Amino acid sequence: MATLTENPLRVGLNQERIPDPCILVQFGASGDLAARKLIPAYYRLFVQRRLPPEFTLVGVARRDWSHEVYRDKMRAALEEFAPQDLGPEAFWQDFASRLFYCRLDIGEAEGYLRLKQLLGQLDEERGTRGNRVFYLAVAPDFYAQAIQQLGAAGMLADPTKTRVVIEKPFGHDLTSAQELNRIVQRLCQEEQVYRIDHYLGKETVQNLLVFRFANAIFEPLWNRNYIDHVQITVAETVGVEDRAGYYDAAGALRDMVQNHLMQIYCLTAMEPPVSLRSDGVRNEKTKVLQATRLADTRNVAAAAVRAQYGPGWIGGKPVPGYRQEPNVNPNSQTPTYVALKLECDTWRWQGVPFYLRTGKRLAKKVSEVAIYFKQVPLSLFPSAAREVSPNILVLRIQPNEGISLRFEAKMPGPEIRTRSVEMDFRYGTAFGSTTPDAYERLLLDCLLGDPTLFTRADEVEAAWRVVTPVLSAWEAQPGGNGSSVAPPLYTYEAGTWGPKAAEDLLAQSGRRWRRL
Ligand code: BG6
Repeated sequence: MATLTENPLRVGLNQERIPDPCILVQFGASGDLAARKLIPAYYRLFVQRRLPPEFTLVGVARRDWSHEVYRDKMRAALEEFAPQDLGPEAFWQDFASRLFYCRLDIGEAEGYLRLKQLLGQLDEERGTRGNRVFYLAVAPDFYAQAIQQLGAAGMLADPTKTRVVIEKPFGHDLTSAQELNRIVQRLCQEEQVYRIDHYLGKETVQNLLVFRFANAIFEPLWNRNYIDHVQITVAETVGVEDRAGYYDAAGALRDMVQNHLMQIYCLTAMEPPVSLRSDGVRNEKTKVLQATRLADTRNVAAAAVRAQYGPGWIGGKPVPGYRQEPNVNPNSQTPTYVALKLECDTWRWQGVPFYLRTGKRLAKKVSEVAIYFKQVPLSLFPSAAREVSPNILVLRIQPNEGISLRFEAKMPGPEIRTRSVEMDFRYGTAFGSTTPDAYERLLLDCLLGDPTLFTRADEVEAAWRVVTPVLSAWEAQPGGNGSSVAPPLYTYEAGTWGPKAAEDLLAQSGRRWRRL
């Protein structure tokens, strides 16, 4: 029961659990992710008193920094990326006293021995009881080496005390993901491994589960009898930024589709889980991925579109094309835009296409799931529009987080004419609080030992299996892989909604992308 001083909207939320004392070892401590996302998330958790009093952070990187230099750099990162969170100086001083640094070259055993010694010493001084989380925020090529070295130094030996967090992308294709899983599983038990996909930390992505399974009215409609098709969009206005080294080898399919879009897709398409415990949800996500395939497996070009941004305008300013970006190969074939048509071979979804699209340098930053319902069997009313619109349920992931339902209503007046109207729910106004950053939630879950929002080994492989035919077709050498012509790489002007071929992907069956 709520008392008068409690916020009634938060009653019953399990927010009081504080993780056990532990040391978080941050590999990639001098990197961009640590500065932009991780340090701000640790700091916010610390200020909100969600971390144990003994919490200790050890930054690990190749640079020759002292503990003091590391603290100064992290302070500078907070000032740059989360200045609003800094608060009183005493908070920072308290946080900084928990920060330590260890220089380490990922491939050299010597550094791991130094790290082990430092961790042992900190356990004694700070009461962290041998509990550790190793967070690998390094270039994906180094994951295997780091895990092997940690294993060789005996730092993964106790599964009850150690966890490993691995950033995405987990592998660069199915084979490499399987190989990485084999290495990880030789040294760790699955419960120790936290494969991170920060989209699962977003409140609105988790709300897909709540929306579907905490409400009785939508689930009966959530199937091929009522749904015509589903559109999942994750559009960005940013370009490659300064990540060409990674991105030019990855491209949009690996960077966004195999992980973030697939997770949104899974939560939209999965069956109800038997429980919300980690395996309940992850079993259902894996099952849906196993039933998923490209709509046309024999002709990839008919179900998958790739494109690269050319020069254009964003926010009234000219921006260069992808190939003109710093450190991008001027002949790069890397797609910055992908649109796919997927099918899910289950009783629930047979014949319902799922269209996925994502791209950089698009007209707007917006992510959403749009459920298009089937038209009424017989249209009785004249519409103000040229054609009667279908009912559309839109789950807005970001920005303007919320949900809207579009339906037809009678226009006021003596005649019976209809027009589409919207019912709208907005997180900001309904809950009156800001939503926590995705990394905050995921880091806390990991410290608490809850892997529900992390990707399991079989799930990550199942997601790779879905995109593999596309990767193989796009990356086939002429004459190889049974085909001599690779599907085209289109160009789109920066600041637009992508190539015309993506429109055609839907137009083939009389559909079109939602205008956003
Ligand atoms: C990352 C990708 O995982 O997600 C980036 O590597 C992308 O390329 C980013 O920009 C998008 O995340 P968000 O939370 O801003 O939608």
